[in-house]
Amino acid sequence: MEFIEQLKLKASQNKKRIVLPEGLEERTLKAADTILGEGFSEIILIGNTDKVKAEATKLGLQNIGKATIVDPENHDKIDAYTDMMVEIRKKKGLTKEEAVKLIKNPLFLAVMMIKAGDADGEVAGADNATGDVLRPAFQYVKTAPGISVVSGAFIMILKDKEFGEDGMMVFADCAVHPDPTAEELAQIAVATGQTTRAIAGFEPKIAMLSFSTKGSAKHDMVDKVVKATELAKAQAPDMKIDGELQSDAAIIPAIGQKKAPDSEIAGQANVLVFPTLETGNIAYKLVQRMGHAEAIGPILQGMAAPINDLSRGCSVSDIVNLVAITANQAAGTV
Ligand code: ACO
Repeated sequence: MEFIEQLKLKASQNKKRIVLPEGLEERTLKAADTILGEGFSEIILIGNTDKVKAEATKLGLQNIGKATIVDPENHDKIDAYTDMMVEIRKKKGLTKEEAVKLIKNPLFLAVMMIKAGDADGEVAGADNATGDVLRPAFQYVKTAPGISVVSGAFIMILKDKEFGEDGMMVFADCAVHPDPTAEELAQIAVATGQTTRAIAGFEPKIAMLSFSTKGSAKHDMVDKVVKATELAKAQAPDMKIDGELQSDAAIIPAIGQKKAPDSEIAGQANVLVFPTLETGNIAYKLVQRMGHAEAIGPILQGMAAPINDLSRGCSVSDIVNLVAITANQAAGTV
């Protein structure tokens, strides 16, 4: 896909160090081999060195020798990392003994490598549930300055080129934060606009979705989206944002013109911000399955360093693609 090839090209100009904590997982190893062969990112695999090498040989992989392999049981920075963990979580009562146990978990080791500056980004989740990937990241890497909520965006590549930017749209939050407040929803909108610029590569026209268009319905849920729209506009005056809009008014010009004639987003939206995780997650999966769209992500946004979570049903190419995205985020674009 042209879009991913461009991201790989950009990534290869910066060669960031992406850590893959599931270093013994078959699809992850195959993806690492492809990435190292293509050479667009450096790869750090976490796992027992002998086992990783043996598995790579068994799978007939040619490039794993170019990876850095980090063994959680035998690593010379463990003491420094556990000291950092205790320092970061001392208010939560974390002891050194607990940290020593936690750091053996590759998902904690990966985030501490990032925190210590020994890796630039992480991709995990082929073998672990979303919460298990995200919690260590939330606890130790934390959110970017000025951001309190992490969210997940999908780049949707639609069959129908009349929507969005020649068939490309960005949806959020589809992956992380179940029930955002108005303030959090505003942050999600601005972060999604930034992801759109940096990763999708087009200027965002953001629709804040609801079941109401410009006051057509009255409800607390509508009020939340109205308030979030005002806050997002104030936070990012250089971004085109409007709401509250129903989804048809957001993407169909004739309906947008009818329901929100004064809006510069109605009918033109290329970014859809959903009011809750329920709506975002359901919508992206329906568009993906029934509309035969490609869904690239989730791209986590708002974290202090790029960490992305895979679906456990991911393919090797899903992992390769997410590493390309993560490497671009690590290059400082999001
Ligand atoms: N952004 C930033 N920090 C957060 C967020 C967030 N969205 N959510 C929780 N945190 C922080 C908390 O403040 C807390 O920090 P602290 O320990 O320093 O106080 C820490 O993370 C852990 O918080 P918990 O409340 O214990 O975490 P929780 O159990 O709520 O888990 C999680 C957070 C895993 C993200 C949860 O909200 C969740 O399960 N979300 C849904 C994920 C999901 O299943 N998505 C759908 C599947 S993905 C897909 O289909 C593509």
